[in-house]
Amino acid sequence: MIKLGVNIDHVATLRQARGTIYPSVIEAALRAEQAGADSITLHLREDRRHMQDEDIFAIRPLLQTKMNLELAATDEMILIACKVKPQDVCIVPERREERTTEGGLNVTQSYDLLHRATQKLTESGSRVSLFIAPDLKNIDLAKKMGAPVVEIHTGSYADAENETVKLKEIKRIREAVAHALSLGLIVNAGHGLHYHNVNLVAAIPGIEELNIGHAIVSHALFVGWDNAIKEMKLLVRNYSK
Ligand code: PXP
Repeated sequence: MIKLGVNIDHVATLRQARGTIYPSVIEAALRAEQAGADSITLHLREDRRHMQDEDIFAIRPLLQTKMNLELAATDEMILIACKVKPQDVCIVPERREERTTEGGLNVTQSYDLLHRATQKLTESGSRVSLFIAPDLKNIDLAKKMGAPVVEIHTGSYADAENETVKLKEIKRIREAVAHALSLGLIVNAGHGLHYHNVNLVAAIPGIEELNIGHAIVSHALFVGWDNAIKEMKLLVRNYSK
């Protein structure tokens, strides 16, 4: 059964909007675990637009599941990750002007940088994942550089304008997952997944974990944090049977 990683970045977005101490990201993380999250995902962005360094350090020892820390492959971020030692680190591309992580890593272009980052993080005890588009070449390169996990970017599927594009994108994801599994990689997926579109991704055999954030935080405004997580967990569980 596919696991659910709950991304709590946008709890911090709400806090940063007013510079208050609430809503508490620690409470969000711990209650997410109680509600059924299998891991807690957070992204420490270079511009610190949501999560802050102290959040990462505070949450890490309190988790009973595991921390999946998303970061760009910069010296600063790698240094922080080597201090925090999250169980999982997902390397993502980052552009300051983007609204969210809009695409996957360009593994060909950044191979040496990503290779060095993967080695350092692995030596520090974290399991490294590369956030990539559903592209077979990226997967081959991830395998070559020794990253044990890939996270497939599901944004193109989630943003599909019509049913034809949606089905084309899900096929690409399915083929990418099968290829990664055939190489012995662990496969996660995420980005843009919602209560209404998680079905086709959760039904793909072999995915280990879906990482979902914005949809859960948004839904929580109306049904409450615990319920928003429980509802998503139920969907993921039912579709991945
Ligand atoms: N996975 C990765 C690697 C991400 O960067 C993000 C967004 O921070 C997500 C999953 C979650 O995306 P969303 O907030 O759209 O659910």
